[in-house]
Amino acid sequence: MRLRSVELRDFRSYETATVDLGPSLTVVHGPNGAGKSNLLEAICFGCTTRSPRTRNDRELIRFGADAARVSLSLLDDRDGEHTLTVGFGVMDGDAGLQRRIRFDGAPVERASAIPDRPLVVVFVPDRLELINGGPAIRRDHLDHLLAALWPARAAHRSEYSRALAQRNALIARIRAGSSSDSALESWNLELARHALRLCADRAAAVEAVSAGFTARCGALGLAGEAVLEYRPRTRAGTVQELAEELRQRLAADLQRGYSTHGPHRDEIAILRDGRPLRAYGSQGERRLALLALLLSERAALAQARGCAPLALLDDVMSELDEERRRLLLSDLAAADGQSVIATTDLAHVPGADAEDVRRLRVAGGAIEAR
Ligand SMILES: Nc1ncnc2c1ncn2[C@@H]1O[C@H](COP(=O)(O)OP(=O)(O)OP(=O)(O)O)[C@@H](O)[C@H]1O
Ligand SMILES: [Mg+2]
Repeated sequence: MRLRSVELRDFRSYETATVDLGPSLTVVHGPNGAGKSNLLEAICFGCTTRSPRTRNDRELIRFGADAARVSLSLLDDRDGEHTLTVGFGVMDGDAGLQRRIRFDGAPVERASAIPDRPLVVVFVPDRLELINGGPAIRRDHLDHLLAALWPARAAHRSEYSRALAQRNALIARIRAGSSSDSALESWNLELARHALRLCADRAAAVEAVSAGFTARCGALGLAGEAVLEYRPRTRAGTVQELAEELRQRLAADLQRGYSTHGPHRDEIAILRDGRPLRAYGSQGERRLALLALLLSERAALAQARGCAPLALLDDVMSELDEERRRLLLSDLAAADGQSVIATTDLAHVPGADAEDVRRLRVAGGAIEAR
């Protein structure tokens, strides 16, 4: 699936804009505050219905407007052209804010329901929280990755979460004296069954990217050996073993009022020479690690899905030296997919003047090809 063009309406600083993307690399350039990040954010929002910068959709609507809309024109090798439209705002005079997604004009509940929706990997400075933040952010990210790698396993996480919520509800009832311990046994087994499946998925997803991550960190010049390591909370190999672990923790669970053991407490460690980068890495080193992580995820997705995800890279070039810029560009080109790079300075992108590169100049609220 290739992204051919993007149409914006009242999105961030844009009243209206239409841009065509290149078949491989598109470079978005222009001065500070011109709207480069807004354009990348719009592309991400159109593909995933989520902004990489904010969870508050209201920020995406242009000041003074009622609703924002992003329309993507997609080209599929098999069955031609498609349109994916994501709108958000006040619609049909309704007072509340609504989100509306349409694929080829037909309403869809959520973007993940569209089997051929374009996959994206996004590098924006805010994503450093993936390295710097707590384990829940990395678990979420890993679970999104594994759903994209293997769509058939996408439901495993929500099935685990459901079982966990039910066990937690039962714990609360036992605490309140309105239920007995005996009812818990079947939920221990149910939770253990879903937990082991999720742990196996997570281990496989980390396995799919870890070698690429270590190699890219080295190539990008991160000193020492970088390792991505899945650290599951449990080492149980069978449902019975895990159910036994849950039984042993019942007293602690009852005291706290929730389940304290299971993959909802997993960590995905990002280490350099055995120490967590979030604690000991410099700012620049963490950026390199994030870039290496996203590039190796893109390569793993390209292999699993037969098509490289669209890579959106914002504000990455100015931080890299000439040699690393070249490495980044050749990594992007190797996966044979599309990428969009935003930069204040066109000269920071090696090969930006090549004929097959699409250059978009952003200035004064408008985007033009040049
Ligand atoms: N909802 C909105 N409505 C109108 N303007 C907005 C909205 N949200 C952000 N802006 C404005 O969009 C402008 C461009 O922002 P953007 O982050 O895209 O710039 P940029 O080209 O990436 O700049 P830099 O090179 O500094 O990263 C900012 O001046 C900001 O105030
Ligand atoms: Mg920007």
